Amino acid sequence: MSGSPIWHPFTQHGLGEPIPLVARGDGALLHTADGRRVVDAISSWWVTTHGHNHPRIVAAIRDQAERLDQIIFAGWTHAPAEELARGLVAMMPAALTRVFFSDSGSTSVEVALKMALGYWHARGEPRDRILVMEHSYHGDTIGAMSVGARGVFNRPYAPLLFDVGTIPFPAAGAEQATFDALEQACAAGAAAFIVEPLVLGAGGMLFYPPAVLAAMHAICARHGVLFIADEVMTGWGRTGTVLACEQADVVPDILCLSKGLTGGAVPLAVTMAREPLFEAHRSTDRARMFFHSSSYTANPIACAAACANLAIWRDEPVRARVATLAARQRERVEALASLPGVSGGRALGTIAALELGEGAGYLSDRAPRLMAFFRERDVLLRPLGDTLYVMPPYCIGADELDRIYAVIAEAVTAFG
Ligand SMILES: Cc1ncc(COP(=O)(O)O)c(C=O)c1O
Repeated sequence: MSGSPIWHPFTQHGLGEPIPLVARGDGALLHTADGRRVVDAISSWWVTTHGHNHPRIVAAIRDQAERLDQIIFAGWTHAPAEELARGLVAMMPAALTRVFFSDSGSTSVEVALKMALGYWHARGEPRDRILVMEHSYHGDTIGAMSVGARGVFNRPYAPLLFDVGTIPFPAAGAEQATFDALEQACAAGAAAFIVEPLVLGAGGMLFYPPAVLAAMHAICARHGVLFIADEVMTGWGRTGTVLACEQADVVPDILCLSKGLTGGAVPLAVTMAREPLFEAHRSTDRARMFFHSSSYTANPIACAAACANLAIWRDEPVRARVATLAARQRERVEALASLPGVSGGRALGTIAALELGEGAGYLSDRAPRLMAFFRERDVLLRPLGDTLYVMPPYCIGADELDRIYAVIAEAVTAFG
């Protein structure tokens, strides 16, 4: 063995691409060990909302680490978890009264699916079919993969994935096909429908409008099918509002949050639920409890970081920063959209995306070459196939954003 023993995620080590060593983060910048200043144009996989190393989050982590590092959460509790749960209930839609902790977006989805099936089981109604949207991504654990798009990412594991009902993506002009398929699948007695509200992230930054989200929610509600909103990527301001669901006036039955929950500093997730889901599991019968945990459930240090995140949302002009970034993103992507070789320029909130060329799939040859091109120019961008997207921390300055778009314009000329 030569070099590092690390096996990196979503990395083809056989290509021998360089893996930069990052020493320090600061706002929208990453400082490498060899002294380069890299603009983090994708918020380090969509997690960093306020910027790297926000002083309030750093202080909360330091303070909590000195008091209580970890405590079993089955039958025990602690102040940061209590404060955070109350803060989330106050901040999120009023009907979401229960907070279940886990540690990643994928596990928040696993928990949501188990809550939904547990609910129907406790009610004695035989509903177990999960409905999903075409092109979705919900994570890489077995259950989360099962409810996500099938393809090259999960082909070897297909025998482990459970069967789901797939509803077509509501492409512009074809929404009725989505509604009809959903209506039919709901009428057949599904347990739940899981969706990424307004933006399908890993599926290629595919957007659909709030009215479509509202209509899909109404169909589920009419049939009593539980509506699971996976806001792991869209939550915490990414689409311009705290939750994407807000734009459609939709309150889901179950809500998955992670990534920006701690401002992106440390791993934590929550699955929030309406009271009837909790009530279905509450009983004097121990066999009816919600059977899910992990060792680090509601880790105090992670909860303290999330409490600091909530305080930042409360005390700092985060919404104004999001609005400023949203306007800049729209302006810059529109400027690029007319260049030859570019198609599908679009922006929603802090997310901007476009396609280079005809838009080949995730394994497009261009993607690794593009990634190297950006890396050499000190911009962290990670195209999804031929889809280029920019999703920076909200603190990013106009100059840093200009740097990102200048490099993208260069790439359009070189690769378009
Ligand atoms: C919508 C959505 N759900 C779930 C996940 C999985 O989150 P994690 O990578 O934290 O497990 C992601 C990750 O990108 C996501 O975008």
